[in-house]
Amino acid sequence: MSPHDDSAHAHPHGHGHGHQHGDLDWEAMAAHLENSGELHLPVLSRTAARLGELLGPDRQVRRVLDIGSGPGVMTCVLAETFTDAEVVAVDGAPALLDHTRGRAERLGVGPRVAVRHAELPEGLDAGLGTADLIWSSKAVHHVGDQQGVLDALAGMLNPGGLLAVAEGGLPPRFLPRDIGTGRPGLQARLDAVQEHWFEIMRAELPGSVALVEDWPAMLRRAGLTQVSSFTLLLDLPAPLGAPARAFLHAQLIRLREMMSESLDTEDVKTLDLLLDPDAPDGILHRPDAFLLSATTVHTGVRPV
Ligand SMILES: C[S@@+](CC[C@H](N)C(=O)[O-])C[C@H]1O[C@@H](n2cnc3c(N)ncnc32)[C@H](O)[C@@H]1O
Repeated sequence: MSPHDDSAHAHPHGHGHGHQHGDLDWEAMAAHLENSGELHLPVLSRTAARLGELLGPDRQVRRVLDIGSGPGVMTCVLAETFTDAEVVAVDGAPALLDHTRGRAERLGVGPRVAVRHAELPEGLDAGLGTADLIWSSKAVHHVGDQQGVLDALAGMLNPGGLLAVAEGGLPPRFLPRDIGTGRPGLQARLDAVQEHWFEIMRAELPGSVALVEDWPAMLRRAGLTQVSSFTLLLDLPAPLGAPARAFLHAQLIRLREMMSESLDTEDVKTLDLLLDPDAPDGILHRPDAFLLSATTVHTGVRPV
């Protein structure tokens, strides 16, 4: 559970099958990304409402792009929020676009949701068209030249249009510091391993450019004005319901699979206990598990 996205459970060298970009197997993560999106629905709905407020009551929102849309959970929230808009989900993984299409049909917004297969950054030149609102969550950081992507997205906005990128935020918390097993502070150590993973992932991206990840400054550099940021919390207190427990279990499985070499044996043992489906202290049953997650969104407006 990196502060950056839910992909920390995939290895930068990715050994999955199916389509891959940036060497991550996104298609294999479809169900997990969709579960994560569904848990975050209250946050996504409040985010979409906030984007509407930032655009202002007089703004006609006719076209919305969701760049790096994943399984399309936010795509559909955007379609439900901006009821006069065509919402276009753009992603490099065809299976995730299929997911999006299916989800949009199920939720009754199918006629206003379109999908476009595009690999970033090249795909941004491929005529995605202009938009009144461009949303991109946890995707820009998967491209080597992050500033270049923001520049291109800003250029695709209609005058007065809004670019909103969800990047940064905080690593989620889901356990007390001391869980009564192993060394206290497990989550902080998992965060450190994931930060290291993230650093390697970014360094290995084609055309990787190092820069200060000051997202508001990057949006200003892209020519946008009225730049601001807001953070919304997903706050699911203990005791957790089954969907959140299943989500955490899946996350911990991936961490165990991919990162156990970077953890000491005591922490690996603790992870095994947390993953044991029958253990009362496992993540599926323990009474103290919660989920607290902060999503930060940075926005800017294309000058009229
Ligand atoms: C961490 S997921 C985020 C999904 C969704 N926006 C969310 O917030 O849950 C990153 C998404 O970006 C897409 N992606 C990553 N790198 C990409 C690239 N170079 N071109 C196109 N899509 C890419 C992946 O397929 C995946 O759907």
